[in-house]
Amino acid sequence: MNPFKYGQIVNEKDFCPRPNLLKNVEGFIKSAQNILIQGERRTGKTSLIFEALRRLKKHHVVYVDLLEVKNSDDLCKRIIKAVISTERQSGVAEKLFKSLSRLRPTLSIDPITGQPSISLDASVKLQPDSIESILDMIGAIDKRKAIVVVFDEFQDILNLKDSKEALALLRSKIQFHSKIPYIFAGSIRNKMDDIFNHPDSSFFKSAISINVGPIDREQFIAFLKSKFSLGKRSINQPVLDLIFEIAENIPGDIQQLCSAIWEITSYQEIIDESIIPKALKLIYAREFKGYEAILVQLTANQLNCLVGLAKIGGKAPLSSKFVKEVGIELPATIKKALIRLIQLKILYRYQGEYKFVNPFFKSWLLFKNL
Ligand SMILES: Nc1ncnc2c1ncn2[C@@H]1O[C@H](COP(=O)(O)OP(=O)(O)O)[C@@H](O)[C@H]1O
Ligand SMILES: [Mg+2]
Repeated sequence: MNPFKYGQIVNEKDFCPRPNLLKNVEGFIKSAQNILIQGERRTGKTSLIFEALRRLKKHHVVYVDLLEVKNSDDLCKRIIKAVISTERQSGVAEKLFKSLSRLRPTLSIDPITGQPSISLDASVKLQPDSIESILDMIGAIDKRKAIVVVFDEFQDILNLKDSKEALALLRSKIQFHSKIPYIFAGSIRNKMDDIFNHPDSSFFKSAISINVGPIDREQFIAFLKSKFSLGKRSINQPVLDLIFEIAENIPGDIQQLCSAIWEITSYQEIIDESIIPKALKLIYAREFKGYEAILVQLTANQLNCLVGLAKIGGKAPLSSKFVKEVGIELPATIKKALIRLIQLKILYRYQGEYKFVNPFFKSWLLFKNL
């Protein structure tokens, strides 16, 4: 079986040790401090949280994923579903169902995934002020057992029209839950900064910040080598260096590339650099439809900028070299295109540099020679 996992939470043997981060997260959870976990996409934030909780073995988790949350009704229902699903594990969901009867909660087994799924009446629209009573429900669970509340992709709460009100209501309740550690994870740094580091925000300095960057390189290389050796494959340092470079040090993308390499190699194979283009082709073959769908929504200027960034990097996109490469004369036009590409989540800014959210999309653009 392919030992490389990506696009999912990894734990136990699939979790490359990150002792310092785990020690910090576990320590803060034990002392019921609220934690802000920041890092780019696919660096392992969610896995870190769940691995810490698995090792602590003590808590029930209310896990609320706010990815692309649309409005307060959506926010409230996501929290309610998370609470119900936590309570289901302890068998007291029925009581909760009664108190939520207005929302007609129903529990069913999804025929496709086999997972239990909870649905709520879509015609009853919840307003931000419901947040208070929902958080009271969380407070009530804690009287019976230790819980941890995780708000993942928390920055997306800023999508709400009334996000200020929602944040204020959340904060006003959370501050009374002094025994419950709340964990806020987020992948878009400037938005998380707006919430936690802006003096006008109700969450200003309300959590201890932990930064999740790339995994320690030596440790990760040892981890990856040990996975390859499960199939008696050996991989040399230059190939590993190339993998880290193409995947731009992002753990999830490194694992995806290793997974593709595993698929096209066999028992006892000695892997060298010639494997990289073949592995990338496998990734492109699986993902090109998504890449093409991205291209469809772009203007000519935006596409030119993307190709320029793929070719010469995103450190100085307003430089004369870049202007010449993309053939757009006005820097303001380039700037506008870049802003749009960030909005579309194709690019992000990291330490002043414009980077591709998906490094394989970047190498595909070069491969296609667009
Ligand atoms: N500690 C780790 N060891 C090995 N791979 C990891 C680790 N953390 C993350 N990954 C890789 O990154 C992918 C994304 O992890 P995830 O926790 O979902 O990241 P995030 O929440 O930051 O987006 C995983 O599927 C896995 O491939
Ligand atoms: Mg995550």
